[in-house]
Amino acid sequence: MGVLQLKFFAILRQFMVIYAILVSLSASASYAKCTFEGIFNFGDSNSDTGGFWAAFPACPLPNGMTYFKKPAGRATDGRLIIDFLAQGLGLPFLSPYLQSIGSDFRHGVNFATLASTVLLPNTSLFVTGISPFSLAIQLQQMKQFKHIVDQQPQGAKNLPSADIFERSLYTFYIGQNDFTSNLASLGISGVKKYLPQVVSQISSTIKELYGLGGRTFLILNLAPIGCYPSMLVELSHKKSDLDAFGCMKTYNNAVVDYNSMLKEALRQTSQDLPKATVIYVDTHAVLLELFQHPQCHGLRYGTKACCGYGGGEYNFDQRVFCAATKVINGKNATARACPDPQNYVSWDGVHATEAANKVIANTILNGSLFEPRFSLQQFCDIQPIG
Ligand SMILES: *[C@@H]1O[C@H](CO)[C@@H](O)[C@H](O)[C@H]1NC(C)=O
Ligand SMILES: *[C@@H]1O[C@H](CO)[C@@H](O)[C@H](O)[C@H]1NC(C)=O
Ligand SMILES: *[C@@H]1O[C@H](CO)[C@@H](O)[C@H](O)[C@H]1NC(C)=O
Repeated sequence: MGVLQLKFFAILRQFMVIYAILVSLSASASYAKCTFEGIFNFGDSNSDTGGFWAAFPACPLPNGMTYFKKPAGRATDGRLIIDFLAQGLGLPFLSPYLQSIGSDFRHGVNFATLASTVLLPNTSLFVTGISPFSLAIQLQQMKQFKHIVDQQPQGAKNLPSADIFERSLYTFYIGQNDFTSNLASLGISGVKKYLPQVVSQISSTIKELYGLGGRTFLILNLAPIGCYPSMLVELSHKKSDLDAFGCMKTYNNAVVDYNSMLKEALRQTSQDLPKATVIYVDTHAVLLELFQHPQCHGLRYGTKACCGYGGGEYNFDQRVFCAATKVINGKNATARACPDPQNYVSWDGVHATEAANKVIANTILNGSLFEPRFSLQQFCDIQPIG
C-alpha cells in the first residue's frame, strides 16, 4: 500500500469519527427536542406491543415478519400506529407493563393488551376471547406504576423520573372489542345500549389520569369495522348492505354514531379539565380511505386479509386464525401469510398491516387528524418514521 493510500485512509478514518460524533449529537439533540418524555398507552390488540403474549405466551410467526423478522408480541406483520408515534417523537418503542424481562419504562409504559375492553369483561356480556386486562385494570396498573416511580430514588434502573407524568402523552386506542364482540349475538341495537357507558368510562379514565398529572391526551376513534374481512365473514348481512367498496353500511354507520358520541364526550371532558388538552384523533377517516381506495396509497387489497385461510374474496376463516393450524374436513388447514403484506390494508382480517399503520401514523404526525387542532410539531421535532 502506498503512502498516498495510507494518508487517504487516515483522512477517511478522521471523517468517519467526525461523522459518528455528528450523528450521535444529532440523535441526542433530536431526543431532547421533544416536550414529551414518554407515552402512556391504554388499548387493545391494535396497540399491544407484547403485553398479552407476555401474560399468555404464544405469538407465532408470521406475526412480525415484515419489520422485526420474528414474532414481536404484536398482532401484525410489523409496527403498530403506537410504534410509529413513538418513533416520530424520537422515543423508543414502548415496553409492555406485563413484560417482566427486558422492559425499559424510562419513556413510558404500554398497558394495552390484545382483546381488552373498556367495560369490565362481564362474563354474561362478553363471552369468549376477552382479555382480563380491561381499561379499569390498565388504570390500576398505571396508578401502581406511578406509586412505584414516586417511591424510587432518582435514576432507578429502567424507570423514569417522577416528573414524567406531566410531561407525557396519554394515548387511548380501545373500544373496538366492546363494539364487536357482541355484535353477532346482540345485534347493533343491543350493542348500542351500552356504548354510552363505554364512552363515559373513557372520559372518567381521562379524568383520573389528569388527577395523576396527565395533561395531554390523544384518543383514537373506532375503525370502520364494517370493512374488516373478519366482520364481513362473521356478521350476517344482505348483499344490499354492501356499499360500493364492499363494506357493510349498517355496521359502519353504527361506528360513525359511536365516534360522534365519543367526540362529544371528549369535548365535554376537555371543558371539565381546564389545564388538559384532550384530542379526538380521527384515524377512522384514514382507515376508511385505505379500505376504499387502497391503490391511491400504494396498496392493492382492501377487504381481503393477507394472513388467513380459505382464499376467496376475504381470505378469512374464523376457525383458523392467522398462524393457526386446525383440522378441517380431515385435513390440516394452516392460515399462512401472503408474500406481500405491503399490498394489504388488513393483516389477519382484524388488524391493520404495517403498511396501513404507517399511512395512518404519518397522517397523525402531520397533524391532519386532530380535533380540535393540535400541532405535535410545536412540541417535538418530528422524526421520519421510515
Ligand atoms: C352483566 O351483563 C348483564 C346483561 O347486560 C347485566 O344484566 C348484569 O347486571 C351485568 N353484570 C355485571 C356484574 O355488571
Ligand atoms: C396434522 O399435522 C400434524 C403435525 O404435523 C400431524 O401430526 C397430523 O397427523 C396431521 N393431521 C392430518 C389429519 O393430516
Ligand atoms: C398529511 O399526511 C397525509 C398522508 O400522508 C397527506 O395526505 C396529507 O396531505 C398530509 N397533510 C399535511 C398538512 O401535510
